[in-house]
Parts: sequence; structure tokens; C-alpha cells
Amino acid sequence: MSLPSPDDLVSCGTLEELYGKLGKVGMGAGWNKPTPSLWPAPRKTLIPAHWKYEVARGALDAAGRLINTALAERRNLILFNPAEGNTYATVRTLVAAYQMIMPGEWARVHRHTANALRLILDADPGAYTQVDGVNIAMAPGDVLLTPNWSTHGHGNRSKACAYWLDFLDVPLVQLLEPMFFEVTENDATEEPAAAPVQATTDSPFVFTFKDTLHRLAEAKPDPAGPFGTSIELGRPALATTALYMMRLAPGVRTAPYRTTANNIYAVVQGEGASVVDGERFEWRRGDVIAAPAWRPHWHEATRDAILFRVTDEPVMQRFNWWREERPAT
Ligand SMILES: [Fe+2]
Repeated sequence: MSLPSPDDLVSCGTLEELYGKLGKVGMGAGWNKPTPSLWPAPRKTLIPAHWKYEVARGALDAAGRLINTALAERRNLILFNPAEGNTYATVRTLVAAYQMIMPGEWARVHRHTANALRLILDADPGAYTQVDGVNIAMAPGDVLLTPNWSTHGHGNRSKACAYWLDFLDVPLVQLLEPMFFEVTENDATEEPAAAPVQATTDSPFVFTFKDTLHRLAEAKPDPAGPFGTSIELGRPALATTALYMMRLAPGVRTAPYRTTANNIYAVVQGEGASVVDGERFEWRRGDVIAAPAWRPHWHEATRDAILFRVTDEPVMQRFNWWREERPAT
């Protein structure tokens, strides 16, 4: 079948005839689309959601018996947003995952253009992440960065399994398409060095929980605001991703808040609840809450709590898409 010629298009007598011929030349009438391309305010696509650490731990312990780090690349559980049709992202631009590494295991070195970071949940001394050849000790509450193209692997010289939460901007990189990934070790199943590992926390790639507690103690509380007492880790920590630690006083409800930025909250300590767009989630240590863009949300702690907030604010701000709204209570 031949394509319509310019003369065929010029001679169209009706809009229906024009639409039919336009379709054959890879064009569509902008005034005749079945769905609009622009809308007045952000739509609700991905949904508020909650993941429980105790559930993930059970699954990771089973996975520890069933698959090793050499086969898995990483033994992790992706927290995919349960919105219909979604199989990967936690919020639109970010993905979170629980990960576990067993004593003596080595998760081989690789690198990727996606930015990554992790919040350590449970780890005994001896668990570490290697970033660009430097071994960084991992302790509960610590946050470790592995920015775009930094080489990184994970080891565990302790006698206990180590658990943490990973956060990556992979969904954003997938959307924009500058994805590169390479494994920089060949089929390594064990750590390259047999000698005892010297691990440090003197690195720009780690924010220790000890420092976080110190900074939170010095920070000014904002009881009428949406974040309790909040400090930022880095400024921003990664090009696409900003990180905050929020201390919530027991019994104090944070101000309702919504923003065009996507937020993931992870519970570093304490217990409480978050209400995201009317849905209430009771959380405890290690749990994760997704607050997708433009969903009003607030938090309240029943026990002295610290939440870790991971957000794509730097992306929204860089492109002048960042907005926030603090509805009157
Ligand atoms: Fe990685």
C-alpha cells in the first residue's frame, strides 16, 4: 500500500479522511487526540504504600538459603509500587529495595550511571561497602553513598547477616535513557582479599548515625512544620536525590504537606504512623512508606522516632518544577 502523497493530503474533503491519511504518514491531529497531553495539576498515578521490614527479613533469610550473591548479583527485594501496571518503581523516579548479605559473602564490584545510596538497618562490625576501592564500615542508621559510576561492592566479615535498604534513581535513568552498567570483577564469589578488612568511616560517601544524632540534637525543632526536627545529609547528597533525617517528638503530629517532589520515608528508629492521601500506615523500625508526588501527607510518632527521607527534590528544583503546599489545618 502506497503512502499518501502531498496531493492526496491536500485534496482531503473531510476531517475523517484527513485523519486516516495522517495516520499513514506517522502524524496525528493535535486537536483530535483521545486523551489530553496537558492537565491542570499532577495526576495520581503511583499510590501511597507501606512495606514492613519484618516481612522483608523473612523473605531475605529464605533467599539466603536459596540463592548466593554470585548468582543474584545483589540479594535484594524490590519495593515496587502496587499501582496497576507498575512492576519496578517505588515512586516515579526512585526505587527502594531491601538487601541482605550473609557472613563471609561478597557482592562483587560493579558500577552504573544510576545514583545509589543505602540506609543500614542491621549490621555487626565487619560488614562494609567498598566504594572506589575504599572499605567503608556499615553500622545501623548509617547512610552510604555510591554516586553515578562509582565502583562498589559489599562484604561481610561479621558473624551475622547484614541488612539494609537501597535507594536508586534507576526509574529516572530508565526514563531519560543514559543507562550504563558494568561488572568490574569476573565471576567473583568471594572477597578479593583474604586479609582482615580495614574499614573506615572517614569518607565523603558515608553519613554515620553517630553524626546524625549529634546534628539532630543541635538542630532547631520545627513543631509546626511538616518535618519535625530535620537535617539534610549533603546538599544534595546526590545530583538527583536529596536526603534528610527527621526526628519526630512522640505525640506531635507534623503539618500536612504536599510537594511535586516524590518522597520515600524509611524508619530509622521508633514507632508511629503516616497518613498519605488519607491512607494510614502504622510503622516501626525498618519499614518504608511511599508518598508519591502531590499526595498530602503527615506523620506522628508514638515513640521517639527518626525518619529518613529520600526525595527527588533536586530534580524538581533544577527544572523549576518544585512546588509545595501546606494546607491549613
Ligand atoms: Fe550497584
